[in-house]
Amino acid sequence: MSPSRHAVFGHPVAHSLSPRIHAAFAAQTGIALQYEAIEVAPEAFTASLASFAAAGGSGANVTLPLKEAAFALCADTSARARRAGAVNTLIRENGGWRGDNTDGAGLLRDLGDRQGLDLRERRTLLLGAGGAARGVAPALLDAGIGELFVINRDSARADALVDAQEQPGRVHSRYYTDLTALGEFDLIVNATSAARNGGLQKLPMSLVGARTACVDLSYGEASIPFLAWARAASAHDAVDGLGMLVEQAAESFALWHGVRPETDGVYAELRGRNAALVTAD
Ligand code: ATR
Repeated sequence: MSPSRHAVFGHPVAHSLSPRIHAAFAAQTGIALQYEAIEVAPEAFTASLASFAAAGGSGANVTLPLKEAAFALCADTSARARRAGAVNTLIRENGGWRGDNTDGAGLLRDLGDRQGLDLRERRTLLLGAGGAARGVAPALLDAGIGELFVINRDSARADALVDAQEQPGRVHSRYYTDLTALGEFDLIVNATSAARNGGLQKLPMSLVGARTACVDLSYGEASIPFLAWARAASAHDAVDGLGMLVEQAAESFALWHGVRPETDGVYAELRGRNAALVTAD
């Protein structure tokens, strides 16, 4: 049987760990799989995806900055993708694409099962309102966090994210200039791509208390500035997005192949390679 054809689309995507993760899952489950990284600028995404489908592509991951564009071109979407307005997983079905979003489930798996964090009642600050932020906000709310404050440079995007949650008493939009007045948070999630785009705004250490968990959705070098700030502020936990990456990949793999791979081995291997860059306290 010829291997099923999969890919991750992104811009940039060359350093994506997804091909390596899916190859490990395929070896573990005995599923024949071809998985490549396809670099594509946003304006060329639709055409590139169409040629991938024409060449037999049956499933794809989508990473930044294409998650909202992917949502827009799906014939069908899951409820969680619709809540996020963003898609990270494409499944070929009936000659079109069905879109899903496994980012939120992946984050919860990592924070709950691997890091042992109980998210319930946590007063939460979400930095960013792009595709990554939209993917995780509904899952965090479903996991029982307390109030959620969303801050983004482009405040209209923060407002749109907040409105989409439809919980006005619980989810609020704020400005970076409000940060010093907001007090302590129990959970702070960096969902911006600031480390790759000129650097994050200065964050006051007054945001962090003795029990605060700080989570960066990125991994490797992109996670260093925010997690260095978290450690300098004596955060209780400083967690990068490597575990989420592996867990969202496992959720995508299950959607495509009907079997959820075991993730601890792959996570440990990647963590070993990235040990100097990413440590969870
Ligand atoms: P992703 O899929 O990673 O979310 P995205 O949709 O392009 O990619 O969103 C990037 C996020 O990082 C946005 O919230 C963006 O803020 P704006 O909407 O105001 O552009 C945020 N971001 C990027 N660079 C930033 C920086 N230097 N400082 C603060 N936020 C930044």
